[in-house]
Amino acid sequence: MSTLKKLYIKTYGCQMNVYDSEQMARVLKPHGYELSDTPEGASLILLNTCHIREKAAEKVYSELGRLKEHKSTATSPLIAVAGCVAQAEGAEIIRRAPYVDIVLGPQTYHRLPEMIERAKRVQQLKANDEPFSPVIDTDFPVESKFDFIPQNSDNKNVSAFLTIQEGCDKFCSFCCVPYTRGMESSRPMSAITREAIHLVSHGVKEITLLGQNVTAYHGQALDKSEESSIAQLIYHLSKIQGLERLRYTTSHPRDMNAELIQAHKDCEILMPFLHLPVQSGSNRILQNMNRQHTRERYMEIIEALRYAQPDLALSSDFIVGYPGETDQDFEDTLDLVRQVNFAQAYSFKYSPRPGTPASMHENQVPEDVKDMRLQALQALLRSQQKTFNLSKIGQTLPVLFERKGRHAHQYIGRSPYMQSVHTIFSEDMIGKICHIKVNEASLNSLGGTVNMAHEAA
Ligand code: 5AD
Ligand code: SF4
Repeated sequence: MSTLKKLYIKTYGCQMNVYDSEQMARVLKPHGYELSDTPEGASLILLNTCHIREKAAEKVYSELGRLKEHKSTATSPLIAVAGCVAQAEGAEIIRRAPYVDIVLGPQTYHRLPEMIERAKRVQQLKANDEPFSPVIDTDFPVESKFDFIPQNSDNKNVSAFLTIQEGCDKFCSFCCVPYTRGMESSRPMSAITREAIHLVSHGVKEITLLGQNVTAYHGQALDKSEESSIAQLIYHLSKIQGLERLRYTTSHPRDMNAELIQAHKDCEILMPFLHLPVQSGSNRILQNMNRQHTRERYMEIIEALRYAQPDLALSSDFIVGYPGETDQDFEDTLDLVRQVNFAQAYSFKYSPRPGTPASMHENQVPEDVKDMRLQALQALLRSQQKTFNLSKIGQTLPVLFERKGRHAHQYIGRSPYMQSVHTIFSEDMIGKICHIKVNEASLNSLGGTVNMAHEAA
């Protein structure tokens, strides 16, 4: 009889959380936990939460309310809340949802196995009506969780994330990350290189260097006496045999220096796509946001990047309705968007995050104004995205195929510019970079046929 226990993880939020959920599954695998797609029959239900926007905590509490019923089933699963809401709310989670067994922050998931053991003991104490203290671990420990996570040996992905740093010291006035993820900390170059080589030896062709603020990377260099910049790390990783594509996210305009811009020119496997959040096009708002760069500096960086890599496609993040944002400030944002011309972008309504300076601002923008501004910005960004995609019709692009599509013989991959590209082909394309002649484009994807002339060449 199998002794495997089912683990159900629900992940909210960003790519960092997706990566963390994979890591938690890996930490638990040697302890007999196998991932399951549904909470039914699970021994452990884990919510990996996000706190960045809009009523995040409330969403977690409603999900917990729904999951509570599983407690009374035969498996009586442990329920754990991880991630940034856990970090921000701490013991409050157990106060409001006493059936939650474990609360853990983003920096302590390597301790999950021991937390599970403690939670089982707590279950017994509770059953016997004996005193207990709940399992809450929202430390920022001195040891690095990365040193405790087994390497991923069953990776079937063609494209993988690799965390190179975590946390942020920038303290943008709207953002909860410095409080939930902690201060900036970078992994040593040697550990990152080891993980990258391991991924490539297991079939990974594309690596995205991941972190809240990857451009602030300053991990220990290989000779251990110095610190490495992200540009040096990129040059180093680009030498790995078999690694075909490299990307990094998320970057900050403040750290986009000449060395990193030069890497976009020199480093062939660095893809011509960059997500560079600007948040606003108004200098007054940028200053209030404590972004530490102006609109002019952002434009200068874009110009230098495009000079280094003329093919570069750009993405960004925007916040509308930051406290005190006037119609003119918002116009400045639209104007910046028109000047840059983005290939894609994310835009959000400002949402006050408890404890952040902007949330205490008196000049909050009314919800209906935020709505109108968001719609106007998104319409403009959508039209730029569509125009960018349409511009690829007739071109032949190298596409890294990652998975099968819904139709027979359909494969789906990514262009260098992060566009989703689909094609029909008789042979297995997964893990291959094939040249696709684009013949259709929509807002969200491209379609095309394999360019045999290119493949034969
Ligand atoms: N309100 C709205 N958007 C936010 N972001 C971060 N904090 C907030 C907030 N309080 C957005 C920023 C950031 C992205 C990850 O989320 O645009 O770049
Ligand atoms: Fe948040 Fe600003 Fe740090 Fe990005 S740079 S994580 S927006 S504080």
